[in-house]
Amino acid sequence: MIRRNYSSPLGPERSDLTTRIRIVCALFALLFSTSVLSGCSGKGDTSMESNQQMVPIVPRPASMAVTEGSYTLTAQSAFHVVNEEFEAVAQLFSEMWTTPMGNALRVESSSGDIQLVLDDSLDDEAYGLTVDDDGVTIRAGDASGAFYALTTLQQMLPADISGNGPAPDTAWILPHVSIDDAPRFGYRGLHLDVGRHFFDVAFVKHYIDVIARYKLNVFHWHLTEDQGWRVEIDAFPRLTEVGAWRSETVVEKNLDPYIGDGIPHGGFYTKEEIRDVVAYAAARNVTVIPEIDIPGHTGAVLAAYPELGCHEGPYKVKTTWGIQEDILCPSEATFDFLYTVLDEVAELFPGPYIHIGADEVPKIQWEESPVAQEVMRREGLADEEALQSWFVRRIEAHLNSLDKQLIGWDEILEGGLAPNATVMSWRGTIGGIEAAQMGHDVIMTPTDYLYFDFYQGDPETEPLAMNWANRTIPLDTVYAFDPIPDELSSEEAVHVLGAQGNVWTEYISTPEYVEYMAFPRAIALSEVVWTPAALRDLDDFYDRLALNLRHLERLGVNYRIPDRIDGIDQEGY
Ligand code: ACM
Repeated sequence: MIRRNYSSPLGPERSDLTTRIRIVCALFALLFSTSVLSGCSGKGDTSMESNQQMVPIVPRPASMAVTEGSYTLTAQSAFHVVNEEFEAVAQLFSEMWTTPMGNALRVESSSGDIQLVLDDSLDDEAYGLTVDDDGVTIRAGDASGAFYALTTLQQMLPADISGNGPAPDTAWILPHVSIDDAPRFGYRGLHLDVGRHFFDVAFVKHYIDVIARYKLNVFHWHLTEDQGWRVEIDAFPRLTEVGAWRSETVVEKNLDPYIGDGIPHGGFYTKEEIRDVVAYAAARNVTVIPEIDIPGHTGAVLAAYPELGCHEGPYKVKTTWGIQEDILCPSEATFDFLYTVLDEVAELFPGPYIHIGADEVPKIQWEESPVAQEVMRREGLADEEALQSWFVRRIEAHLNSLDKQLIGWDEILEGGLAPNATVMSWRGTIGGIEAAQMGHDVIMTPTDYLYFDFYQGDPETEPLAMNWANRTIPLDTVYAFDPIPDELSSEEAVHVLGAQGNVWTEYISTPEYVEYMAFPRAIALSEVVWTPAALRDLDDFYDRLALNLRHLERLGVNYRIPDRIDGIDQEGY
């Protein structure tokens, strides 16, 4: 059902775009000459602008000039690490390139044709990259900048560099370029829901590897759900003994009458596995933000520890989707439990943030609970929204005492925002606007643009996906998003840290399907959050993307072929 990239036949009516891409790429590989490249684009000018379009870098760099000439890397090339802080990143790329290049490139401190130099004048993540007759020179202010320079360099090489097979006949030709690049936003995220469906460590690492190649720097790991708890917690073993497993899963959308598939589903990550993922991500400049979703979306917690609920149960790990009424009761036992869980989570994830969800919390059980009502009387809380706000504030105080910052979905605005909270705006940008106007940091992830679990084409021909309000979110829609809403003044806009794509997995049960939904939409997002707004250009993006898809193919990513470039003869370039 899922359309694979490499099975797409060459359509009988090959588009102009297809033809152009093939010509450009053939010349790109052979020549790297300013005049020839400009001419073959049909644009006939030699400006930086037109040259920039010929090098398939995504996201598009802030500034780039392509000049005449080329430099060829060989298996004898070496990284010249002038400053030792770049040694690890050079080793990483040496390892990545070993198989295709047929040799591990040496990492030297005294010589080499890929030189990495510290430049204190550059911000974190910014870099300069030049390729000339002497080789490659990279300037960066920190290891993340050097990492991004090397991801850019990697995209300039033939796509075989991204494969895991030997490529003895490939010439590793680089065009002469001069690039100065830096991100537009500091927060550039992609999310994965491993609660609805569990994905193993190998896939999670692969996912992180791919997003890092497109300069996304946050992996939001949605670790807990009504349908499964996925992180080992020493103090509460039943969370994974019981909460990580469900008896079966509803088939497609068959809720009434209910049809289950009869297949048990589950899994969880040990602490050792989580540390391994966090370190793998850190090596690629990706911060992992764990989400422990409370007080709703806690069906799996309640199945393991029913005493934390507002009624006696019985509870079970849910087998259906949608908003569930079973939530945590605001008792002291619940806070003791959560503080202990969050202590263990904070110890596992060195990043500054812990996400506590707080989305979609029906209040009916709090309305009926003597415990919840007593808390409201005691604390002078007007209603259950205020009770949720009080609940979140207590959790925030605990996280802050651990030197962690709280992120919550935009429902944390209801009943009053916790003092230091960062808001993840998902029900449109309105919550983000409100929070930024109050001086709170915001991450934009509006459903209309950045929910990658929604259909991206005609539901008749696409695999099952989310479709609230018959919404589809094609690639162009993602590309059109701007994280800074017009409503914000420039002072308020500073609070928009960036944006994130979300991959909820109710209907997404395999790694291949995750990739199909995430890519290339996450790549369009990468340009939204990295590239200066004035340089974004959809046609130019498609040209670069078409060439870049070859790298994804070599990486074994089951991306969806964009409608506009379907039918390209991928063997042709
Ligand atoms: C959400 O999509 N419930 C944050």
